[in-house]
Amino acid sequence: MNVVTVKNYHQLSVQAAQLVTDQIAKKRNTVLGLATGQTPVGMYRELVQKFQQGEIDFSQVVTFNLDEYYGLSPEHPQSYHYFMWHTFFRYINIPTENIHLLNGTAEDITGECQRYEDLIQQKGGIDLQILGIGDNGHLGFNEPAIGLNSKTHLVNLSEETIQANSKYFNTIGEVPRQALTMGIGTIMNAEKIILLASGLKKAHVIARTIHGKVSTEVPATVLQLHQDVTIIIDQEAASEF
Ligand code: PGA
Repeated sequence: MNVVTVKNYHQLSVQAAQLVTDQIAKKRNTVLGLATGQTPVGMYRELVQKFQQGEIDFSQVVTFNLDEYYGLSPEHPQSYHYFMWHTFFRYINIPTENIHLLNGTAEDITGECQRYEDLIQQKGGIDLQILGIGDNGHLGFNEPAIGLNSKTHLVNLSEETIQANSKYFNTIGEVPRQALTMGIGTIMNAEKIILLASGLKKAHVIARTIHGKVSTEVPATVLQLHQDVTIIIDQEAASEF
């Protein structure tokens, strides 16, 4: 794994945006895998700025988001649909039909997961996957477990994740207990992966991800087995390894 340690969150965002820009410059119809959460917000801001300055063109880019809460409609302010539109998509020139997210309110969940997998294949697979990491080492919503699911699936969220994400909801009772997520295999099939982590609270899990034994109890450790991973972390997140 290629580990890049930068000074602070701003530098992390700038570096990540530059790698995405370079990828799109190399391949205009890049298929991007995208993440939500606090960590990539700065990268999205940088990318919007680059777009406004004419440095990047999203007109042929295709995107697939990692995950979506089960039971939240795209209009729900805490849905990842809403997050992505309001943080990124509305500010750039990506055609709506090129944007793909899982439908958390699909009636046939198994069919929805299969549709997503098929669509990723149809578009030629993910060229560059952006990832955050949970304090517990989850990728997407692939939570620590005895076994990990390879393909896109419905998952029960861990208590830790429900707790961590409750800051976005009025009460913890409103946090969905389940989500749809790309599987570990879906993520590992990406040509390139960039994982972003910032702040002291990620330091422990980052140390385990880089140096720990590969284990489904820390899902991010599987990235040690991928041939093209770049981990961009700030000094705080790098402080335990
Ligand atoms: P965060 O979430 O970027 O808000 O820390 C990351 C995650 O839970 O995967």
